[in-house]
Amino acid sequence: FGRDLIRNISIIAHIDHGKTTLVDRFLDITGTVEHRRMKDQFMDSMDIERERGITIKSKPVKLNYTARDGKTYEINIIDTPGHVDFNYEVSRSLAACEGAILLVDASQGVEAQTVGNTYLAIENDLELIPVLNKIDIPNANIEETLAEIVDLIGYKAEECLLASAKTGEGVVEILEAVIERIPPPSGDILAPLKALIFDAVYDKYRGVVVHVRVFEGSVRGGDRIMMMSSREIFEVIEVGYFLPQMVPTDSIDAGEVGYIIAVIKEVASAKIGDTITGATNSTPEALPGYRVAKPMVYAGMFPGMPEYYEELRKALDKFKLNDAALVFEPESSPALGFGFRVGFLGLLHMDVVRERLEREFEITCILTAPNVVYRVTMNDGTVREITNPASFPEPGEFAKVEEPFVELSIITPSDYMGNLIGFITTEKRGEFKAVENAGKNRVVMKFVTPLSEIMFDFFDRMKALSRGYASMDYDIIGYRESNLVKVTILVNKETVDSLSFIVHVDKEYAVAKKVVDKLSELIPQHQFQIPIQAKARGRIIARSDIKALRKDVLAKCYGGDVTRKMKLLEKQKEGKKRMREIGQVTIPQNAFLAILRIG
Ligand code: GTP
Repeated sequence: FGRDLIRNISIIAHIDHGKTTLVDRFLDITGTVEHRRMKDQFMDSMDIERERGITIKSKPVKLNYTARDGKTYEINIIDTPGHVDFNYEVSRSLAACEGAILLVDASQGVEAQTVGNTYLAIENDLELIPVLNKIDIPNANIEETLAEIVDLIGYKAEECLLASAKTGEGVVEILEAVIERIPPPSGDILAPLKALIFDAVYDKYRGVVVHVRVFEGSVRGGDRIMMMSSREIFEVIEVGYFLPQMVPTDSIDAGEVGYIIAVIKEVASAKIGDTITGATNSTPEALPGYRVAKPMVYAGMFPGMPEYYEELRKALDKFKLNDAALVFEPESSPALGFGFRVGFLGLLHMDVVRERLEREFEITCILTAPNVVYRVTMNDGTVREITNPASFPEPGEFAKVEEPFVELSIITPSDYMGNLIGFITTEKRGEFKAVENAGKNRVVMKFVTPLSEIMFDFFDRMKALSRGYASMDYDIIGYRESNLVKVTILVNKETVDSLSFIVHVDKEYAVAKKVVDKLSELIPQHQFQIPIQAKARGRIIARSDIKALRKDVLAKCYGGDVTRKMKLLEKQKEGKKRMREIGQVTIPQNAFLAILRIG
């Protein structure tokens, strides 16, 4: 293959606009995957991905496409994850390409992540091909969607293609446009190796498989390579392409996309965004953009039974082999015993990890309510990063607290603008920044809000307030000071550290009240009354009681022996007291996530 016959592209879209379906169609048309092996959503191979219908991990694939000009081209497609939790992966995938297909569902219009991802692509200097998808749907709104693309993204309507990834209509035209409009890769094949890592996965049999885009030089089996961020050196065992299964080849050269297998023990050694070069013949300068994917959200993870602690640790260790973004350290909680404090990229990431632990490792664990990372400046000037509300300092011990803020973009039909602005500014501590028209009867609004406010109960409320039409995207913009307090929860007068949470001082009472009420619903009745209390800044600010289950002791008495009756009542009282002293309250798992369902 001459390099002018290569095209490296990504597909960017808002979630559910049809990326995976389009790639499936490409595989189909080019005969890359035989018909009989083709099943819907071939590219989404992780079980969870198929069930939820979302793409979590980027996967590359190489197509051989014979175009109308009679030449056969190699098109490398790097599928990108659509969820904002995985934005960093989107950005790295884009850096590996010269161009992208911008896919917009014509029945939904341009949505928040369409715009967000377009900016990422433009930052990476990519040539974009706008495509309206799902034109087979009867209520597809082609004219309005075109107008939105023109308004929001700045393309001419004539530059946009119309297609249906489902029926295949217009799909060949997309491939032709890729050949015509997207430039082939450049880069000196004789220069020292320079390859971008855009993904790395752990394979049970082969160890770490590194997904790379080679920008300069070439790499072959037997080469010694170096990771530029850590200067670790590895020997290459095999290189190859994705069809989409791995197919070995002699070398991958400047301009190409493929995989490298070396003796790498854990995925953490192959960091997404890092540059690989030769161990001896090295390039002086790494490719731009290596950044550690930093966990934004932390939660406690505890084994259901203490004897499963070791198993949970092993599972997390194994999990980390394949997911460098996951971090964890041991944590011990007076209430829940030994477990881990685990850091995630976002709530979806957390959910996926928990679900995969259950499915693949058959481990059930108690997960506590997630929180963001707080930055606390103590009175003596030292700065602490707080990942666990239980270790939040007491009032008087610190000078200020900061929390992460985001710039939030919401695209919505203008009818719901008022609802959404009201909700975000009064309930979510948001600051309204700007509004702009986006096509006919739609607007883009910008807000600045704390990250913690959009994590809990935000998405569903936004959808409800806009009848499902609004979409959102956000970017973390850094830390800002907030007046935050810690609320601790006492169950039966004992502090349950794992139920503590941090809240803005203005919401202290309201949230505390909702949490104690929710807990009193979720914790089952016991033989004795259980007070649930919330405490902040040294005083109790809310309380809710769970009534005792009245055991019908008197049923055992036949008739009127008063002394016997008295004795029994006495015994029951003692029983209650003993229980209370031991403090044996069964708190079910969902109680630990009670805060998640509170606005
Ligand atoms: P993520 O990977 O989660 O970001 O989603 P995606 O963009 O890959 O979307 P996906 O391909 O999973 O498609 C979402 C839904 O739209 C699926 O139910 C598809 O069958 C459907 N779909 C995709 N393309 C078309 C199309 O052209 N016409 C119609 N009618 N449905 C489509």
